[in-house]
This record gives sequence, C-alpha cells and structure tokens, in this order.
Amino acid sequence: MAREQWTSKLGFILAAAGSAVGLGNIWRFSYVVGTEGGAAFILIYLAIVFLIGYPLLTTEIAIGRVTQRNPVGAFKKLAEGTPWWLVGALGVLTGFVILSFYSVIAGWSVAYTVKALQGFSADADFVGMFVGHITHPTIPIYWHFGFMLVNILIIGAGVVNGIQRVAKTMMPLLFILLLGLVVRGLTLPGSGAGVAFMLTPDLSEVTGQTFLRAIGQAFFTLSLGMGALITYGSYLSRKDNVADSAAWVVGLDTGIALIAGLAIFPTLFALNIPPDSGVGLAFMVLPSAFSVMPGGIVFGTMFFALLSVAALTSSISLLEVVVAWITDEKGWPRWKASFILGGLIFLLGVPAVMGYSTLSHINIAGMDILDTYDFLASDIFLPLGGLLTAIFAAHVWKTKNAVSEINDPKGKIVFGGWYGPLVGVVIPVAVGVVMIYGLYSKFFL
Ligand code: TRP
Repeated sequence: MAREQWTSKLGFILAAAGSAVGLGNIWRFSYVVGTEGGAAFILIYLAIVFLIGYPLLTTEIAIGRVTQRNPVGAFKKLAEGTPWWLVGALGVLTGFVILSFYSVIAGWSVAYTVKALQGFSADADFVGMFVGHITHPTIPIYWHFGFMLVNILIIGAGVVNGIQRVAKTMMPLLFILLLGLVVRGLTLPGSGAGVAFMLTPDLSEVTGQTFLRAIGQAFFTLSLGMGALITYGSYLSRKDNVADSAAWVVGLDTGIALIAGLAIFPTLFALNIPPDSGVGLAFMVLPSAFSVMPGGIVFGTMFFALLSVAALTSSISLLEVVVAWITDEKGWPRWKASFILGGLIFLLGVPAVMGYSTLSHINIAGMDILDTYDFLASDIFLPLGGLLTAIFAAHVWKTKNAVSEINDPKGKIVFGGWYGPLVGVVIPVAVGVVMIYGLYSKFFL
C-alpha cells in the first residue's frame, strides 16, 4: 500500500501545527510559567525554542522525510544493524505515556465545555468546582474514555483527510477567541500585575530546575523528542521545503502560547488567584473570566470546545506514532493497532485520574500520579530523545546529509555549516547538562 502523503505544504504545516498547538500552549504553559516564577522562565523558554527547538524540529522532519518511516523504522533504515532504533523505541514509549495523561486533561476540557454551556455564575467558587470535578471517583474516567475512543476512531480511519480539515477551520477560531480573552483580561482592574509577571524577569527565582522545566515545556509544546515529527515528516512530499515549514510550526506554536499567557495571567492577577496553583490553573481562571463576560456562555462554550479540538489534533499525533510503529514494523492492520494500543493507553491513564481521588494518598517526590507521568515523559524522556536524535543526525546520519535534506532542493540555503557544531555538540551538551543539573536540584537541593 502506498504511504499516505499530505496534499500540500500548507496541509503539512497545519497538521504539524495542529500537533504542536494543544493543551501544552494553554493548560501546561500557563501552569508551568506560574509555578516557575513568570518572566524569567518565559525568557529561558523562548531561547530554548529558537536555539534548540527549531533546529531539532527541522531535523526530526528531515529524518522522517528521507526514510518515509515511523521512528523505529527511520533509525533502523539510516543505521542498519546498530542499536540506534532504541531511540525510536523510546519515542514510542514516550508517546504512550504522554497520551495516557494528555487524554485525562483533554477529558477535563471536554467536561468543562459542558459546564460552560450551562453557564458559569459570577459568584461561583471556581477552585472548588475544579477540585470537585477532578476528585470525583468515576466521572473524569468516563471523559478520558470518551476522548481516547475518538482518537482511536480517527487514527483507525487514517489521519490525513479528517483531521487536516478540522485543524484548518478550528485553529483560526481558537486564535480569535484567545485574542478576545486577552482584551477581556487586560481591561479588568488589577490586571497590570499579570502583564508585569510575564514581562519583568526575577532572576533570583531561577534554579537548575527552571532550565529543566523550560526544556521540558519547549519539547512538549513543539511535540519534539519522541518522533511525532519524524512520523509526520514521513508523509511530507519531496517537493516541500523542510526549513520553512518548520519555521511556521515553531512560530505559530510560540505565538499561541504567549497569547494564551496574556489571556490568562492578567485575569488571574485581577482575580487574586495565585499563579502557582498548579495543574488546575487554566481551569480555575478562565471560567471566572467567562462568568463576568457579556456573552460568556457562548464564548466559554466555544473556548472549551476549541481547546478540546486543539487537544484532539495533538493527541492523534501521539497515537499516530504508536500506531505507525506497529503497522510499519509488525504489519498490524490500522484498526486493530488503534483499538488495542489506544485501549492500553486508556488503561495507563486510569491511575493518573485516580491519583486525584481513590489514589490521592500516593505521592512520588511531591508529585501526584499524573504529575509523575508528565515529569517522567516531558522532563526526562523528551529531552533525552531529543539529545540522542541530535547526536544521531550530526554524527551517524551526518551533517552533510541532514543539511541537504533540510534545505530547499531549488537552492535556498537556510541551514549551513553551523548545523554540525550546533546540533552535534552544543545542543546535546546543553540538554545533557540541564538534565543532570535539573534532576540533581529537583531531588537533592
Ligand atoms: N504539543 C502538544 C501540545 O502542546 C502535545 C503533543 C502532541 C506532544 N504530540 C506530542 C508532546 C509529541 C510531546 C511529543 O499540547
């Protein structure tokens, strides 16, 4: 069977941006910025996105396009008979873990779509509402189940047609709504403190852990370090320019995260919600904004519906990696792979849900179960996968081959001689040092 291919460069950009833009930009970005102290974290994050994220994103896409394979097959093809395929395998495992908790949060956002439709009343206790939702012993499991089921159905059917179209209409709408929320937030009395929080760096808050969290966030939000972009790149036509497409994906993703921050932090400061409230931040802040906004029911419902759709265009890219691996390498039919692997991912997510209810006594180094999954996958597996992919591209696949795959065949040179030193040395060393120091300061300082 011929491998599916994106219908155009725009199709690829939208699908890859659909993967990148998701809960990571709104839910995860806001809560991590909040717990890591604001502007200083944002600066470090931006530097990492441009210096590490962009070159690695192009590298992953190039590896996918040149091999036309899933991550495990891609490493096998470029380095026959070596253990490098294990990097692809780590990616598949990471996709498994990320999707299991991602679907739980996506389930919250679907549940909040329903709550928004009923209307948020201005004097409600939004913190209590959120805690009440996630600590319920069964309801969040049903939403998690429903969300995984939709993923299974889409990936089972094949990704190019359905989702590419959804992303195309939904992404611009989400963008416009976010801008509306920015205006609403900035016009609330007391919101200036939120803008200051995003713009005035306090370097005394910066520790080794700040850098680790910033790398984890950058990788997570760009869908980097586990082969999602290798997989999406494997469906990219030879005619399309990799460096350019990648720049669009990075730009869109970063822009939307910053706008989401401007939608959330001013509102939060105006409402006196502490920025370091953790995973529930967006779910506690945004409903209170909708509750006092004219047309709040409409905007609130649209917002959470679009957030759920953004989550879906991301989550399917995670399931696609796992399914592409088993269909390419083991010859399973797509439907069988989707149902069985999707089902296992659902099961792995159940303890993450129960970590807020039945299993709330479980605490791993100060983290609940969902946090632990997220920490392991985002702050350890993704940077490790990225580091190894960088070494692989520059030293095993070789800089010359990587650069010629990345640059436009018609001669526009974006990536030059700096690629080897940057991707082969600076990035692996920087990521390695940050991982070791960050883990040390998290557990021992
Ligand atoms: N980038 C997505 C987000 O920000 C999540 C995601 C999709 C992802 N695919 C990924 C994260 C692959 C890491 C790796 O919501």
